[in-house]
Amino acid sequence: MILLAMAVPVYFGRHCDRYVWGPDYWNHLGWSDLQDALATATSHNWNIAKNVVLFLGDGMGIVVSTAARVYKEQKRQGNSGEEGYLAWERFPHTSLMKTYTLDQQIPDSAATATAFFSGIKANQYTLGVDNTVFRNDCFVTTTRLTHATPAALYAHSPNRDWECDAKLGRFGHGCRDIAKQLVEDAPGRDVKVMLGGGKFPFGASTGIADKKNCLRVDNRNLTHEWLIQKRAHGHKTEYVQNTQQLLTVDTSKTDHLIGLFSDSHMDYEIDRNRGPSGQPSLANMTSVAIKMLSKSRKKGFFLMVEGGRIDHAMHITEPLRAFEEILAFEDAITTALSMLDLSETLVIVTADHSHVMTINGYVKRGNDILGVSDKPSEIDNMPFTTLMFTNGLGYDYYWNDVREKSTTKHGYKPLSAVPMLYETHSGEDVAAYAIGPMSHLFHRMHEQSYIAHVMGFAACVGPYKKNCARPEHSIP
Ligand SMILES: *[C@@H]1O[C@H](CO)[C@@H](O)[C@H](O)[C@H]1NC(C)=O
Ligand SMILES: *[C@@H]1O[C@H](CO)[C@@H](O)[C@H](O)[C@H]1NC(C)=O
Ligand SMILES: [Zn+2]
Repeated sequence: MILLAMAVPVYFGRHCDRYVWGPDYWNHLGWSDLQDALATATSHNWNIAKNVVLFLGDGMGIVVSTAARVYKEQKRQGNSGEEGYLAWERFPHTSLMKTYTLDQQIPDSAATATAFFSGIKANQYTLGVDNTVFRNDCFVTTTRLTHATPAALYAHSPNRDWECDAKLGRFGHGCRDIAKQLVEDAPGRDVKVMLGGGKFPFGASTGIADKKNCLRVDNRNLTHEWLIQKRAHGHKTEYVQNTQQLLTVDTSKTDHLIGLFSDSHMDYEIDRNRGPSGQPSLANMTSVAIKMLSKSRKKGFFLMVEGGRIDHAMHITEPLRAFEEILAFEDAITTALSMLDLSETLVIVTADHSHVMTINGYVKRGNDILGVSDKPSEIDNMPFTTLMFTNGLGYDYYWNDVREKSTTKHGYKPLSAVPMLYETHSGEDVAAYAIGPMSHLFHRMHEQSYIAHVMGFAACVGPYKKNCARPEHSIP
């Protein structure tokens, strides 16, 4: 069957000439996908996952990835765009996840991260109600290390905003800020590699305290303390602050690595300084993390990689900015797949929640995804963009007249129906794509908290340490 599948010509990507869309194309594609499905059905991998890697596209809902897929093909291949795939869309197993939280229909990133890391649903804005499933070996993110998604890996906090001690104020009496928990408490202090933004909450750099800057008022430098503490235990420990330093770390001689590349979140991909003194790509951070973690042949690892700024770009209703984040996220995933042994590594790609963007109208095949409908509204005769938001900043037809704007340019904010300063999340399902041991456990609609259970069961860790027997007939 596998041989047959290989003999069938596949017309993806570079072959997608406009003249090949006849019945032959669809019949070959259908046949090839069938062979693929049959081969997958008879080759489920029931191994114990030695390693688990979770890629989290923050805010990368289904509609966001559909549009990003078209953008990618149009930009990189010059294709009509709709026929392509993002790397994870070729994974053998895909399922849907319900994202509501205990108290809200439409979730935030703290409660959702708690669900997929800890296996239980939580209230909005809370972090890490229970965090016993994993020994957290590593994480990589473009946000601050103390931001909602990574923080759910190690922190317990009734408020996700308490990243630094200054934010605790009079409400946080008796609570510990998130940066401090990462450095002082288990499991945070046992993390081997952490790469991302957020010098401020660690006291690694100083700035002006305001609404945006989360600073330390205890005058501690937690980065320095972390290094001292690790070195006191005889560990070789490095702190890196730019691309060159990151890429020259001798991973074979380093036990613990912390990289803080910016005061707050890291720059958007589109604004990033790509030089050696700039901020590293998510792909570079991911490859260094995997090198660090795969040193030990005996012990496995858990790695979380977050494309954290997809969400922020969507909140300011700039789809192009978000798509560039997604392409950088895809680069990181492609890099990781080339380094990992998928017979022993479970790789999951998912999102925490979606956004209120929609792909609307009836534009022709191959129309620029950032472009304008060829037929205007029959009521007010106004043209409109294919991508629109139900709420957000682009609400005013008078100043946001698509006839006067270049909708495909960087910085353009598409129309929105309801005026809002910060576009909101949306409540529809997200997808989870998986490959590697036990990836077939993603097979239908699930609660988002199911992800933690699959990771635990696949790797036989946490509550599934002694409770991960595979069904008899599955033994090959
Ligand atoms: C904090 O410690 C780090 C690591 O030793 C050092 O590079 C940094 O300059 C220190 N920051 C401040 C504000 O003292
Ligand atoms: C760093 O990432 C860039 C793309 O983001 C890639 O071209 C380059 O090869 C990477 N370098 C290393 C050493 O991984
Ligand atoms: Zn958000």
